[in-house]
Amino acid sequence: MTVSVGVVGSANVDLVVRVAALPRRGQTVLGGDVERRSGGKGANQAVAAAAAGADVVLFARLGDDESGRWLARQLTARGVALGGLGASALPTGVALITVEEGGENTIVVAPGANAELDLRGIDLGAFDVVVAQLEVGDDALRQAMAARRLVLNVAPARPVPPEVLAAAAVVVANETEAETLDLAALSSAVVTRGAAGAVHYRHGREVARAVPPAVAVVDTVGAGDVFCATYAVRRAAGDDDAAALRYAVTAGALATRARGAQGAVPTTEEVNAWLARAS
Ligand code: RIB
Repeated sequence: MTVSVGVVGSANVDLVVRVAALPRRGQTVLGGDVERRSGGKGANQAVAAAAAGADVVLFARLGDDESGRWLARQLTARGVALGGLGASALPTGVALITVEEGGENTIVVAPGANAELDLRGIDLGAFDVVVAQLEVGDDALRQAMAARRLVLNVAPARPVPPEVLAAAAVVVANETEAETLDLAALSSAVVTRGAAGAVHYRHGREVARAVPPAVAVVDTVGAGDVFCATYAVRRAAGDDDAAALRYAVTAGALATRARGAQGAVPTTEEVNAWLARAS
């Protein structure tokens, strides 16, 4: 069965510079050449869900500019359908990213058109699962509550309307984001811990845990997006808590092996081959 996924989220042009070490506050450092890459948490999740075999529609707002047209071409080439929301008068979102040797990063996002995302007239209830993140406005998040099953990735950390949190079937957070949540108040929450893996809680009680394979990390940008999207797809496909978590931590780890948020998104075949080797 092919899972249908609606992604409600951001699409950004990622401008990436690699540095030996991330600058400290007030420090200037020299880096490598600027790389332009397709990014944005919504777009990254859409690409990852498509690579995991889902039929994917991305509801994102792009600007009426060269960056927006370039992003649309990149996403279409990766098997992602665009939700046809029309171009915004605001510029396409941009993320300024520095990546240090070893893969750690810092990111600053200028949301631009993403802030104008509006899903009026869209039937989100038609999708098996809808995935949303927090680089869009609260109105779009409230509209995402119309999903049959909402997977809410609370990234980047910021206050979320309580009714949106309550409507989510699963909330996905990294350790820092999780500090802002009351896990016991959520029916289902998955917390990612980088190389230490991920833990699934129901009403604050641990129900599953998975550890990723060891890989040579080049770039961790977007690894959390791959985790979130593949987790959503595998749950919608019928995997149980443990199997979906194992798949997602493996996919997230494999995504760190090349540059760019969408540069190493693994296919189902790749993930399954790693899982088979591990078992
Ligand atoms: O999660 C990684 C993403 O965060 C980047 O692609 C960047 O665009 C920001 O949205």
